[in-house]
Amino acid sequence: MKRRIDGGRLLDLTDGSLTAVSVLMDDETGLVLAIGTDLPSADEHIQLDGEVLLPGFVDLHVHLREPGFEAKETIATGARAAAAGGFTQIACMPNTRPPIDTPEAVRWVRGRAEEAGHCRVWPIACITSGQRGEDLTDFAALKAAGAIALSDDGRGVQHGGRMLRAMEEAARVGLPVAIHAEDETLSGNGVFDHGAALRLCVPEQPGEAESAMIARDLLLAERTGAHLHVCHVSTESAVALIRWAKARGVRVTAEVTPHHLLLSDEAIDRADPLYKVNPPLRGERDRLACLAGFLDGTLDVVATDHAPHTVEEKRRPLLEAPFGLVGIEIVFPLLYTHLVRTGRMSLSELVKRMSTRPAQAFGLPGGVLRPGGPADLTAVNLDEEREIDPEAFYSKGRNTPFRGWRAAGFSVLTVCGGRVVHRIERREAR
Ligand code: DOR
Ligand code: ZN
Repeated sequence: MKRRIDGGRLLDLTDGSLTAVSVLMDDETGLVLAIGTDLPSADEHIQLDGEVLLPGFVDLHVHLREPGFEAKETIATGARAAAAGGFTQIACMPNTRPPIDTPEAVRWVRGRAEEAGHCRVWPIACITSGQRGEDLTDFAALKAAGAIALSDDGRGVQHGGRMLRAMEEAARVGLPVAIHAEDETLSGNGVFDHGAALRLCVPEQPGEAESAMIARDLLLAERTGAHLHVCHVSTESAVALIRWAKARGVRVTAEVTPHHLLLSDEAIDRADPLYKVNPPLRGERDRLACLAGFLDGTLDVVATDHAPHTVEEKRRPLLEAPFGLVGIEIVFPLLYTHLVRTGRMSLSELVKRMSTRPAQAFGLPGGVLRPGGPADLTAVNLDEEREIDPEAFYSKGRNTPFRGWRAAGFSVLTVCGGRVVHRIERREAR
């Protein structure tokens, strides 16, 4: 079926201009047929009201929790939440129960995602069997089954020799290695960064636990030629190390989360698990270094590390509550409001870091909106501000410290492969 979207304004990613256009697309091929004015009519017409048309966002770091933790999230609820956030592609982490460490498991995730619809879901498979940090999984077989990257996210691979072998094999097979950098001999049972840990008398998780492992893995990437993707960078020293490695020509990409860009540990005023995330919110100096690294491109992409947990889990005492925050439904409005509206970054640069660059980094389709390309898009309302209300999330997770923040830029329409996967009519705008 052919659909035509009218009344939107297309953002030109090269010069930032907005042009009133229609978009014609076809859900059989999943492609954009034409963009312009005076387009032929279609089977269905969707009328916008001046919202801005963007390529669908791409999140390289999401936790969908299925199989095993369906009370936190399912592939269907997580993918639906992604569509509401303007995402048309998400890469999901393998720290499920059981972990995604076999070709069968990778195929199972793809099948569930296919049934759910909503958006494209790309599985990331484990580096080590059961994420135990010991035996490597079968990278070639995982890739053949559809894994797009490898990660033991949630835990760092502690043993340097095994990581060296993993990177050699990943380079041979041609898969990125996405690292959760955390030296557990340094992080121990720490929960908050130095400042908040001291202030609130809780165990510290020092930045060196992250930066030291990033240094190790950058050197291993240089040695092996593997594509290293550094997840959720949060320290000043890590940004400097990645900048250094890029200057040397190491094949490295890096992500930053909205919470590490917008919050420091100064925001934590009590031992509240809603601020408990791994890596932790760091000091203001680290936050500013991450922001500078994001602005200058050292940190390539935004990724949410959307990590849903149940309300009950997040109400536990600080040391028992799990690490993690949700973010996929609010990341674009938060960054649009706090980086673009404040003049730190242009709208087109933010969109590149949320669509184009992540798609390129993992070799995914889309990331730009053009005739002949995938009909993956979202339309955002940049004018209307709303208060963030976790109770209205499509995600099962409510665990965000951004409750009550005001933001503009919520998505009113998301289309994936020419099909409407999210639509909010103006009169019922939430
Ligand atoms: O905060 C986090 N939550 N960090 C991780 O590395 C894992 C994630 C989770 O799975 O909940
Ligand atoms: Zn994660």
